[in-house]
Amino acid sequence: MEKLYPVKKICCIGAGYVGGPTMAVIANNCPEIEVYVADINQERIAGWNEENLDLLPVYEPGLDTLISKSRGFNLFFTTNIKNSIQEADIIFLSVNTPTKSKGIGAGKASDLKWIEASAREIARYALGHTIVVEKSTIPVRTADTIKQILFSCEDIDKDSREIKSFSVLSNPEFLAEGTAINDLQNPDRVLIGGDDEKAVETLSSIYSKWIDEKKILKTNLWSSELSKLTANAFLAQRISSINSVAAICEVTGANITEVSNAIGMDSRIGNKFLKSGPGFGGSCFTKDILNLVYLSNFYGLERVADYWDQVLKINIWTRNRISEIIVEKLFGTLSQKKLTILGFSFKADTNDTRDSSAIQICKNLLEEGAKLEIYDPKVTKEQIEIELNKNKSSITEKNISSGSWEYSDSIYQSVINSDAVIILTEWDEFKNIDWSRIISNMRRPAWLFDTRNVANHKLAKSCGLKVWQLGRNLI
Ligand code: NAD
Ligand code: UGA
Repeated sequence: MEKLYPVKKICCIGAGYVGGPTMAVIANNCPEIEVYVADINQERIAGWNEENLDLLPVYEPGLDTLISKSRGFNLFFTTNIKNSIQEADIIFLSVNTPTKSKGIGAGKASDLKWIEASAREIARYALGHTIVVEKSTIPVRTADTIKQILFSCEDIDKDSREIKSFSVLSNPEFLAEGTAINDLQNPDRVLIGGDDEKAVETLSSIYSKWIDEKKILKTNLWSSELSKLTANAFLAQRISSINSVAAICEVTGANITEVSNAIGMDSRIGNKFLKSGPGFGGSCFTKDILNLVYLSNFYGLERVADYWDQVLKINIWTRNRISEIIVEKLFGTLSQKKLTILGFSFKADTNDTRDSSAIQICKNLLEEGAKLEIYDPKVTKEQIEIELNKNKSSITEKNISSGSWEYSDSIYQSVINSDAVIILTEWDEFKNIDWSRIISNMRRPAWLFDTRNVANHKLAKSCGLKVWQLGRNLI
């Protein structure tokens, strides 16, 4: 028996923040393989096929260069899911797995309807032997569901003399947005879970084209699925921990940057993921911890569920704490006050706003009657509109209408007559703001609230701004 399955064509179902960049990196490193990224969303596929690379649906440093090298050569974006499946030797499932919004497990469990729909499409159209790879983040034992769907269709095409068969692997993605290309090109590790050794080795041989084999870990399916949830839970836990300490710094006179440095130099703790901020955002941390909590409860492990739930509770508390401090410093009322929001994406170097802490903080400020002027270098007005209108209950809608917001495409325009500048994302351009120019256009007393500790505070203070920094007590 051959040691590996032949791989000429790869398909990825889901052309999102993971599917697009991951397949661009595979295509660049494996010019002999044709890579098809298929999605039901026509607009998204049209975006990936845009000639103007500034209009790609995902902003990621370095992505445009990879796309321009491979697109049309061995990388294709398509809505033709059937053909892409039929021809593929390996299919990555990279569809969204958000938290369920209704039904059993609503607000906690993952919604697997996109995974199931994709598995059914594969079961229907695949030909020959196909390796199906879970790239999406999913609850532990989802591979069982996928196997049940696929294996029940094996040999279904006997009439056409086509035999179909499948191997199912777990290969979770650990990239972070904003650094996705580097993370994919130089990952800390690649994790492949599965019980079909030939399929595991085949997938491993793709990655080993550019990644040291020592970094390719092979485990059983369930360890691989659980490791992904656990990695995100541990990372989020560090952020909740440091944010809780930031609050202690503010009341004791300690400085969170100094505390982070001091503990981070302990090699057992390490210095990464120790930046305090407005709470973690993004599409995954909250969703994946909710998933872990749901799973723990499902298996009767209530104490474990409570433990991880606390990481989420601190995160929500952090977001609300920041808006409360802003209201308090501005004399307890935001009515008729104009506040400039700098940064709306959930972190720098991405246009992604999913579960950004800016959303909750802005909603809180709007409820207090503020007039917001929102600036972000990569997030569009339409995207902000979608986020601020999402999940509006009729009561909240009424409250939000007491405030209002506008979009601004210039930092310096956005501060005219503003009472406060609030930094919510750590974009590089906020590090070098000309505070003398800013304050000359603001109403006094003029405030800077820096939730990311990125601005030049000394300069801001010397120009006359009152400065509040997260985790410090410098006023
Ligand atoms: P996304 O929403 O950006 O993209 C998912 C895409 O799948 C969408 O374009 C959607 O139209 C498409 N899709 C859904 N059902 C489909 C179907 N039946 N056929 C074809 N296309 C379909 O999501 P994402 O951020 O790329 O995340 C995908 C998965 O990867 C999630 O499980 C997420 O938890 C995980 N993940 C995300 C990141 C990240 O940084 N965003 C990192 C690691 C893992
Ligand atoms: C995170 C993980 O880092 C990835 O490994 C994982 O693959 C991904 O989730 C996923 O599964 O989706 P991502 O959410 O893109 O990646 O970005 P992070 O850099 O982890 O930042 C998440 C949030 O935490 C951001 O809001 C960021 O501002 C915040 N953060 C991060 C802090 O507040 N402090 C830190 O020290 C680090």
